[in-house]
Amino acid sequence: MKRTYIKELKNKKGEEVKIAGWVDVRRDHGKIIFIDLRDMSGKVQMVALPNHKEAHEAAGKVRSEWVLEIIGQVNQRPEKMINKDEELGEVELEITEIKVLNEAATPVFEISNNGREVNEETRLAHRYLDLRRNRLQKNLRMRHEVIRFFENYLSDKNFTEIETPLLTKSTPEGARDFVVPSRLYNGKFYALPQSPQQYKQLLMAAGMEKYFQIAKCLRDEDTRGDRQPEFTQLDLEMSFVEQKDVMNLVEEMLIKMIKKLYPQKKIQQIPFPVLTHKEAMEKYNSDKPDLRKDKNNSNLLAFCWVIDFPFFEKDKNGGWTFIHNPFSAPKSEHMEMLMKKENIGEILTTQYDIALNGFEAGGGSVRNHKTEALEKVFEIMGFEKEKIWQDFGHMLKAFSSGTPPHGGIALGLDRLMMILQNEPNIREVIAFPKTGDVRDPMMDSPSEISKEQLAELGIQIKKFNK
Ligand code: AMO
Repeated sequence: MKRTYIKELKNKKGEEVKIAGWVDVRRDHGKIIFIDLRDMSGKVQMVALPNHKEAHEAAGKVRSEWVLEIIGQVNQRPEKMINKDEELGEVELEITEIKVLNEAATPVFEISNNGREVNEETRLAHRYLDLRRNRLQKNLRMRHEVIRFFENYLSDKNFTEIETPLLTKSTPEGARDFVVPSRLYNGKFYALPQSPQQYKQLLMAAGMEKYFQIAKCLRDEDTRGDRQPEFTQLDLEMSFVEQKDVMNLVEEMLIKMIKKLYPQKKIQQIPFPVLTHKEAMEKYNSDKPDLRKDKNNSNLLAFCWVIDFPFFEKDKNGGWTFIHNPFSAPKSEHMEMLMKKENIGEILTTQYDIALNGFEAGGGSVRNHKTEALEKVFEIMGFEKEKIWQDFGHMLKAFSSGTPPHGGIALGLDRLMMILQNEPNIREVIAFPKTGDVRDPMMDSPSEISKEQLAELGIQIKKFNK
């Protein structure tokens, strides 16, 4: 007999079916034993009666989280026994055969509730159990739906999804790099990408015109509720565009996604309001203001764009550093100041951020696509010419080989999902997140490596961080 998914049982009344899944709860009333069985599609109440002797005996032995295959008959429940709160509340499966596919140790925590009361270290150490709970299953399945929507939406608009390398070179994107030692070139290191920024620009140089990627980004920075060392962006870049083209595309994509996948949510204002950085700071004292008129309404989404950010700020040594992205172009009317290196603090960039309910949900810009202009940015930051060419020669050479004007954006997918799923932090929408102190208690990483591995890499550990 072919397996039926539990969700389909409501259309199979009176039929004999085979289902499989996990024991959610078991209630033993002696003669009658109830077992709720759960699979990826739903949950159903089953009943074992003494007239099916073997099945009844087996039902007496099973425990929570055992994996069972069941043959039984789908019965309509009597009117007064219908559970209106459950999707499958109007049917019940009368068990005729039970096959135990696997037993399970007593779970370390409850799975049938939302798990919010369980210590997070314990949840993450047993993430395969934690992820079985309905809330997290829904978060991951909705994450998939959102990604699929974006992929389809952009593909329909002739974007190509292109993977970019994970073993790359240290880039100045504002955070510390995670580095990977090279075995073949002892003493040299790859860096894991903080974002695909340079590669996506090089894809524009390569004539791809419209690129996107569901991209893993790695930044060695302190974690927070909305920040993980490893996170995911919906990253995109387009050629021959201006600021408004990228903003319009992303705005329309977000509105359509929410209408389709979250029809219960209300977007406070369409088109999304646009604030200058100055206005946002003056009015809300934040460059990612929370514009919700009613902060108690969990289904209200207040997007806004923030534009006209200053390009540079003074660093702690008194020199200039970029605020957002060194590859951004200045506003066209400020290009002359950049090229002359005048009034540096007044130069505004083409950067646009998108804020959602007080979180920075994404950011991007129109890029500098002229060699001389990018060189100037690094000169302002105090880089010697030789260093600029050593670190960014590939970008400068690409720009002088016929790179079209281009611009793009990256949305923080984890943050977006956190807000859409009404979760308090991004760990709840990531399958295997790191703890606040950047560990994975399930895999026990980071971990030491063997002496042989260290020797191959030419690495000697001076002292261990205990
Ligand atoms: P940026 O650094 O602003 O831009 O990143 C884009 C978006 O990614 C999300 N984000 C994070 N989410 C979780 N954990 C983190 N540690 C984290 N850091 C950032 C935010 C943010 O808005 N290359 C540029 C994009 C571009 O210009 O196209 C970039 O990475 O939601």
